[in-house]
Amino acid sequence: MTERFASDAEVVERVLTHVRDSTTDLGEAWFEPVDNYRDHARFEAELSALRRLPAVFAPAASVVEPGDYLAREAFGVPLFVNRGRDGRARVFRNSCRHRGAAVVDGQGCAQALVCNYHGWSYRLDGSIAHIPHADGFPEDIADERSLVELASCEANGLIIIAGPDGDDSATSTGIDAPQLLLADTLGDHRLVSMTTEEQPINWKVLIEQTLEGYHIRSAHRSTFYPVQYDNLNVIEFSGTHSRVTYPYRNIERQATINPAERKLRGFSTTVTHLFPNTIVSTFPELTLVSVIDPLAIDCSRITTFMLTTAEPSPDGEGFAADGLALAAEGAVEDTEMSLAVQSGFRAGANDTIVFGRNESAIGHFHRNLDDVLASDGDEQSMATPVQLKQ
Ligand code: FES
Ligand SMILES: [Fe+2]
Repeated sequence: MTERFASDAEVVERVLTHVRDSTTDLGEAWFEPVDNYRDHARFEAELSALRRLPAVFAPAASVVEPGDYLAREAFGVPLFVNRGRDGRARVFRNSCRHRGAAVVDGQGCAQALVCNYHGWSYRLDGSIAHIPHADGFPEDIADERSLVELASCEANGLIIIAGPDGDDSATSTGIDAPQLLLADTLGDHRLVSMTTEEQPINWKVLIEQTLEGYHIRSAHRSTFYPVQYDNLNVIEFSGTHSRVTYPYRNIERQATINPAERKLRGFSTTVTHLFPNTIVSTFPELTLVSVIDPLAIDCSRITTFMLTTAEPSPDGEGFAADGLALAAEGAVEDTEMSLAVQSGFRAGANDTIVFGRNESAIGHFHRNLDDVLASDGDEQSMATPVQLKQ
C-alpha cells in the first residue's frame, strides 16, 4: 500500500522551518541524458511502457449523470469513459465493433451510444442494443460484439485505467492507487472546464516544469514571486508519486496558530505528480488535474480539468478571477521556459542535463521511469508502481 503524504500540519511546520532558516528540502541530484529526449527508440519504449501502466483517465466530475461521456486519447489510444445507469463509470475503447469507427467524440450526454457510420447502437454498459438490418450478420453477432471495456476504477474522484495495454484482468472493485494520496478527495468537486492544448515539447519536460520551485524568482518574477518563495519547497515521495509544496508568503501567518489548525490550501500550491503523467495542483478555490499525453517525441497534448467545490455565483463562476489570471500568466511563462529547454536539446551543448538536490522530485520521476522501462515486459514488475487490485 502506497503511503499517504504528510498531514497539512506537518508540511506547514516544515515550511515554517525553511522560512526561518532560508532552506529548502534537498534530495538527490540527477543527471538525465539528453538522448532520452531525442532518441526515437527511447520514445517508443516509453510509449509502450506507459500503455501498460495504470494512469488517470479523467476526474469523475467529468461524467456525473448517467449517459455523460468523455472521449480522449490516452497514450495514442482512443478511449472514452461514460457513466452507466447503474452509476458506474466505464472506460471503453472508442471503436465500433462493426468496422471500427469512433463511437463518440468529445464530451456530451447520450442515453444510447450510436455509431454514426451504419447505426449500430450500444447501451451504456457497452452491450449492443440494436444492429440495423441485423439479418445481414451471423445470428449471435450482438452477443459477441459489445464495446471493449478497459479495466478501470473510480475513487477519490478520479477514474483510473489499468492502461490500454495493461492488465485487463484487473477489476474495478478496488484500488491501491495514486488518488488515495491526494490530501483532498476530488469526489466532491465539480467540473468547471476541460481544455486541451498541444505543445511542441517532450512530455517529460512538461512534467519536469511542474516539479521544482527553483525557478520562481527567475522565471515568474512578476507573477508568482511576489506571492511565493523562491527555492523553498517541501518535497515528498510516495511510491512512484511525489508531491511538491509551493508555499505562499502568507503561510507565515500560521506560525502563531495551533498546529492542528494549520492548513495548506490557501497558503500554498501543492503539486502532486501521479506517476506517470498526471499533475494535480491546488489553488485557493480550484484544483487542476492536468494529464500530459506524449503525441510524438517533441509534441504533447495537455488536457486540463478545472475543478472546484465553490458554488457558481449568479454572475459568473464565483472564484477569484485574479488568482486564475495570475496562474494563467505563470503557465505561459512555464511554457516559454519548456520551449527553451526543448530547443536547447538541439544545441549539442549537453550530453546530460542536471537536476539539483533542490529539484529532487524530478530525479524521482526519471528514476521511476527508468525502472519501468527496465522491467518492461516483466508483468510482475510492471504491476508494482500503481496497482489495481481485485
Ligand atoms: S462502423 Fe460503426 S456501425 Fe459500421
Ligand atoms: Fe513555473
